[in-house]
Amino acid sequence: MKIFLIGINGKMGRAICECAEREGIEVAGGIDVVPGVKYPVFKTADEVNVDFDVIIDFSRPSTLDEVIKLAVSRNVPAVMATTGYTDDELKKIKALSEKVAVFRSANMSLGVNVVESVLPALAAALKGFDIEIVEAHHNRKVDAPSGTALQMLEAVKTGLDYTPNIVNGRSGSCKREKGDIGVHALRGGTIVGEHTVMFIGEDEIVEIKHTALSRNIFAEGAIKAASYIIGKAAGMYDMTDYISSMK
Ligand SMILES: NC(=O)c1ccc[n+]([C@@H]2O[C@H](COP(=O)([O-])OP(=O)(O)OC[C@H]3O[C@@H](n4cnc5c(N)ncnc54)[C@H](O)[C@@H]3O)[C@@H](O)[C@H]2O)c1
Repeated sequence: MKIFLIGINGKMGRAICECAEREGIEVAGGIDVVPGVKYPVFKTADEVNVDFDVIIDFSRPSTLDEVIKLAVSRNVPAVMATTGYTDDELKKIKALSEKVAVFRSANMSLGVNVVESVLPALAAALKGFDIEIVEAHHNRKVDAPSGTALQMLEAVKTGLDYTPNIVNGRSGSCKREKGDIGVHALRGGTIVGEHTVMFIGEDEIVEIKHTALSRNIFAEGAIKAASYIIGKAAGMYDMTDYISSMK
């Protein structure tokens, strides 16, 4: 498998290069606005002159048009791990998936995806409990709340028999109302990623927490996703599909 990395010189791009080297996977090059890795780095899709089997994107939503151009012109699948897309950008990704296979997950780690798979059952069983989601990341993260927190929120919502009102942080006069779900983002230092979903009842709290201790878990997950998606028909795929394929 030969991979092509969008955002190759970023924190995740470099983590994937290291992971690929450890696993003997070839990195054909990547797109970035800055050089810095030993592989060929291009600024736009039109400049790319290397062959590859799959694109892995850990960059910014602003690269989306280049990712789409490259995936369509080379007819290769894309693993899309970037977070912070607008609804219009998500529609563009959906349209791309009608042409090539697209694997999208805001969190490529096995642990987070297993957590997400149990959240609907917890939300359904813990009736009447107040729900709060707290996430923490390093001080350079640009989007908030994190894509993973939003994915966890969606998983919780599928277990509820009501439509919650989402409260992003609190300040001033803002008493909690029944049916609110608070979502809170902490930022500081070098935190790789922490996500806690709290179900808070009368005199008891159930907390489910995932802590990422290094970026390797995302890099390894993205490489597994890349090898899973090669040869798949056009369509949207995610970690649930990959985990099911392992059973
Ligand atoms: N899905 C997951 O498991 C997962 C895990 C970690 C991070 N992420 C997401 O991946 C993305 C990247 O994270 P990171 O920590 O590596 O960030 P980063 O800032 O370290 O790296 C982003 C890279 O993209 C490049 N870039 C930005 N705009 C560009 C443009 N217009 N054209 C070309 N290159 C451009 C930057 O130069 C940089 O090298 C973020 O959206 C983050 O939330 C997802």
